[in-house]
Amino acid sequence: MGFPGVGPWWSLALVSLAGGVVVGVGGGSVWSGPGTTWQLGSIFRGRCEEYVSLFDPSLRDKNCTAIWEAFKEVLKKDSCSVLPSDYDHFINLSMHAIPKDKSLFWEKNHLLVTSYSDNARRSVSLCDVLYGRVGDFLSWCRNRNDSGLDYESCPTTEECENNHVESFWRRASQQYAQDSSGVIYVMLNGSDPDGAYPTKSVFAEFEIPYFRKEKVTRFEIWVMHEIGGPYLESCGKGTVKTLEDRLKGMGFKYSCINNHRPVKFLKCVDHSTHPDCVFSSAAESTPGRLPSLFRGEQGPRLVLSLSLVLLWGTQF
Ligand SMILES: *[C@@H]1O[C@H](CO)[C@@H](O)[C@H](O)[C@H]1NC(C)=O
Ligand SMILES: *[C@@H]1O[C@H](CO)[C@@H](O)[C@H](O)[C@H]1NC(C)=O
Ligand SMILES: *[C@@H]1O[C@H](CO)[C@@H](O)[C@H](O)[C@H]1NC(C)=O
Ligand SMILES: *[C@@H]1O[C@H](CO)[C@@H](O)[C@H](O)[C@H]1NC(C)=O
Repeated sequence: MGFPGVGPWWSLALVSLAGGVVVGVGGGSVWSGPGTTWQLGSIFRGRCEEYVSLFDPSLRDKNCTAIWEAFKEVLKKDSCSVLPSDYDHFINLSMHAIPKDKSLFWEKNHLLVTSYSDNARRSVSLCDVLYGRVGDFLSWCRNRNDSGLDYESCPTTEECENNHVESFWRRASQQYAQDSSGVIYVMLNGSDPDGAYPTKSVFAEFEIPYFRKEKVTRFEIWVMHEIGGPYLESCGKGTVKTLEDRLKGMGFKYSCINNHRPVKFLKCVDHSTHPDCVFSSAAESTPGRLPSLFRGEQGPRLVLSLSLVLLWGTQF
């Protein structure tokens, strides 16, 4: 998975932002990644408590104080010498079962996955699991000189791979893959110029190798395109094919769907007038006339008359 804070698109934006701000203030920024999230501890603790007492009360025996302390223990390590295994204790305390057929893996689709999963109501992505939720969208690392946190900057994966955040997601991802079962869903971004399935990524390196063959029924890959494109990769092509071949080689069953409809509906919420977002199957089978019904301001009234037409049609 590509997480903001470590993923290319987000870190690039933040790098230029941080660069501008920090240099203006007079230097001192050591790394080019975003610094520790302000109020890290409160956010972490609050998310944990909310999760175990409100969101999934079956986990109320989890001890958020102990979980936070196990996480904080890793913050004592130098910013570039953190290994995934340093989070073993944290994972031990926070791990829990993941419902079958609900896992959703992804690359370069973080916000879309967040809205699609809808707080685990629809899918349970890593960020909907307790140990992923507490770190979602956050950044953290140790100050070089003292034992405090560095609020100015943290290393990116390019600067040093064994950093706090990257190792956290690697360890959490391994656990999530190991504990996932049934149908495994994978959402990829077919509009990303670096490829929908980068072979150097958390998904490729720290999730695929950890699936338990006996627990996985099959994979279903969804390649999503941005509304209006670009349509760079799709099922059976480019790096998506690389992924399909890899899964096949590992003996997994898989299928692949371009622009999986439920997810596309969600993308279309922000592009409701775009031609890519004309959805009615009646409209699709009668190009030219019906699609326009869904574009105008008169939506409800026209949809009503369309339903009447359809109703009328079924009488014969
Ligand atoms: C939770 O963990 C903390 C820190 O390890 C410990 O002091 C506390 O007693 C634990 N609480 C419960 C209810 O077990
Ligand atoms: C994690 O828990 C398992 C048993 O559930 C135990 O064997 C292992 O030593 C624990 N590891 C750590 C780092 O606490
Ligand atoms: C997919 O990738 C493109 C190109 O990098 C990016 O602009 C877009 O935001 C990504 N889509 C999602 C849902 O993250
Ligand atoms: C870190 O320590 C070095 C030497 O001990 C010192 O020169 C430097 O100013 C310190 N940097 C910060 C950010 O405190």
